[in-house]
Amino acid sequence: MDYLQINGGKKLSGRVTISGAKNAALPVIAATILSDKPVTLTNLPNVVDIRTLLKLLTMLGGKVDHEGTVAHIDNSTINSHKAVYEIVAQMRASILVLGPLLARFGECEVSLPGGCAIGQRPIDLHLKALEAMGATIEIKGGYVHAIAPEGGLKGTKIIFDTITVGGTENTLMAAALANGTTTIINAAKEPEIVQLCEMLASAGVSIKGTGTSELTIEGTGGVPLTFPETRIIPDRIEAGTYLCAGAITNSEITLEAVEPEHIRATIDKLESMGFTFTIGENSITIHPAEVIKPVNIVTVEYPGFPTDMQAQLMAVAVVAEGESLIEERLFENRFMHVSELNRLGADIWLKGNTAAVKGVDRLYGADVMATDLRASSALVLAGLVAEGTTNVRRIYHLDRGYDDLEGKLAALGADIVRKKEQK
Ligand code: EPZ
Repeated sequence: MDYLQINGGKKLSGRVTISGAKNAALPVIAATILSDKPVTLTNLPNVVDIRTLLKLLTMLGGKVDHEGTVAHIDNSTINSHKAVYEIVAQMRASILVLGPLLARFGECEVSLPGGCAIGQRPIDLHLKALEAMGATIEIKGGYVHAIAPEGGLKGTKIIFDTITVGGTENTLMAAALANGTTTIINAAKEPEIVQLCEMLASAGVSIKGTGTSELTIEGTGGVPLTFPETRIIPDRIEAGTYLCAGAITNSEITLEAVEPEHIRATIDKLESMGFTFTIGENSITIHPAEVIKPVNIVTVEYPGFPTDMQAQLMAVAVVAEGESLIEERLFENRFMHVSELNRLGADIWLKGNTAAVKGVDRLYGADVMATDLRASSALVLAGLVAEGTTNVRRIYHLDRGYDDLEGKLAALGADIVRKKEQK
């Protein structure tokens, strides 16, 4: 197993290019199931989760030619409608094939994802939405068995009790091939949802309300879609993580190939901590703070502060002068990084879903364990400023969602290398 070894204390400088967004690419890849023609996707990040979903497409019978940031996908040959446990257990986002498989083939079986390190993460809202569209759903043997009504899924009005990114994506994809009009109320508004809406619209699906909490989709009545080449949007969470790398080391670095508007909430919080920014059309430079001030954060849905940036901002708060309060509202167990940050000398107390972070003067390198994707990146950030050597273990979590994290940080001047665990 690989681990990352970081010798802390180096200032960063220079420019880093942000990759395509994992969480935008996953639904886009799933949406290709709605097509029986070849589709080309570009700007895919080089991360394990993308390879996992592409592998699932090949297991369903699709043809995938993937190299670097480009994938040519031909789903005209799909001959299985079953997403097996072995793949779904590796990556929950595999559930995104449920809506498109059901819409295109009228039936499918998708393994239930089960538990997750950051919370229970049920999929009840995905299933309720599909049932509202006329699907019959049964859970048997750990699988969701879904069957569309005679003649295909039916457009309807769906009101989500909770804002759900994946639930909105599955419903959008199902609605694209349904009969008639589907209205999604209390839809998620994340840039990833906007990308999916734009991709469906580029194939001729009429969608009103893109980027708002009410989406209206006119289904094609079962006619498969033809997509033009689709370029994945920049990864706002990767970008936010590099802003935090600049912040925690109090360095000046520039991010390129970003969409600044998508990172507004993170920039606002870092501004309130004393950092300043130069924002270009597709670039952001973070400038050092005179004093790193504490911050109060509540994680909410887009455009509010994202749960996927909570751990990284907490790492920065660890070295601020004063006490920060960080409240996690989306996932009940997304604080696994707290005890690992404390192993590096942080002073964080947890009460319910709020962390009180008392800034400390210095951190000390230690062995720490990555527990989930974003928690892992927070540990790497802390390692950049910890005195001595920090070894971040179990980095397979990082590899699922960060494209060459150590290469990009090393190019900015960090002393970070990937090593193999000695048996
Ligand atoms: C997406 O997960 C992201 N994953 C997550 O990123 C991100 O943390 C999350 O959205 C919130 O922004 C992908 O895009 C692949 P949700 P998703 O459905 O879609 C509850 C990362 O680090 N809920 O919006 O699974 C749920 O428990 C990952 O890249 C239900 O109750 O999140 C949570 O409290 C981690 N029932 C809330 O809604 C449902 O049926 C939001 O979850 C679905 C969700």
